[in-house]
Amino acid sequence: MRVLSGIQTTGRPHWGNYFGAIRQWIDLQHEAEAYYFIADLHALTTIRNAQTLRQLTHDGVLDLLALGLDPERATLFVQSDVPEVTELCWLLMTGAPMGLLERCHAYKDKKAKGVRADAGLFTYPVLMAADILAYDADLVPVGDDHVQHIEVCRDLAGRFNHQFGDVFVMPRAKVIESTAKVPGTDGEKMSKSYGNTLDVFEEPGPQRKKIMRIKTDSRPMEDPKEPVGDVLFDLYTLVASTEERRQMAETYRRGGFGYGEVKNALADAADRYFHQARQRRRELESEQDRVRDILADGATRARCKAGEVLARAQKACGIRTDWSSRSHDAAGHGG
Ligand code: TRP
Repeated sequence: MRVLSGIQTTGRPHWGNYFGAIRQWIDLQHEAEAYYFIADLHALTTIRNAQTLRQLTHDGVLDLLALGLDPERATLFVQSDVPEVTELCWLLMTGAPMGLLERCHAYKDKKAKGVRADAGLFTYPVLMAADILAYDADLVPVGDDHVQHIEVCRDLAGRFNHQFGDVFVMPRAKVIESTAKVPGTDGEKMSKSYGNTLDVFEEPGPQRKKIMRIKTDSRPMEDPKEPVGDVLFDLYTLVASTEERRQMAETYRRGGFGYGEVKNALADAADRYFHQARQRRRELESEQDRVRDILADGATRARCKAGEVLARAQKACGIRTDWSSRSHDAAGHGG
């Protein structure tokens, strides 16, 4: 079983990114042969500044390593380090119906919002399909916003296989359920665009300040309260141990506590929970050679697999033919 997923980095990961996706994603490295990459070619469809893109790509790699992605277990690489994928993308592009791509939400929604569409945005799902098919991936863990793109991938793979023979492995989507409810500091869903995030690698001091500013209700301190659904409690649940969580729930139900106490407990638990990742990330910052080796190794492994699949696809559809042996054959038959 082979899992594959790409991630487009948009800046510092927040708790919503981590508990909602990255954590599940990294956990899968223990269950299957995993390929994970930073999707810089996809990011190029929106980030049009070289320095920004380089920085985000580099940060994305460090974030994943710090959060526990193990390069000994999983193949970690940068998408653009595998040019085989863009070649494969063209092969898939030639059989991709316009209507299929026009129906994709990501494209339709952006277009509806008046974002000027270019061919990169339009063919974004074809490049995703190439990413997936290039590694013979069986399983693709994605958020529900990408389920349709996996369907497109299956469609394109099916067409190619139908026309040229059994070339591609049919992948399945594994929808990452955000079982973890991650409210932002204002109680709405945590999202960068709402400006209500708690960031994974934030230093404890500033993070505590943010937590202290979370708005709470003004019910009297003595009143017993239902913990579940309370922003502070829900956030605490993510970073506290089971026992801490149980005790905190009891405190809520008993009443007679102050939200200040809960906030401090939350900040403490968050500090403990992400302490190791923060430290590892700092270390990685000063180990650029090691990071470079990890990526070089990941790219070599990824290219090896992608090259094999690309050759299979090329042969099936009649390109990159070995002319020397062909002319040799042909000569025997009078040209
Ligand atoms: N487009 C995905 C994102 O927005 C990243 C991605 C690129 C990807 N290629 C993929 C995800 C292939 C899964 C499979 O993060």
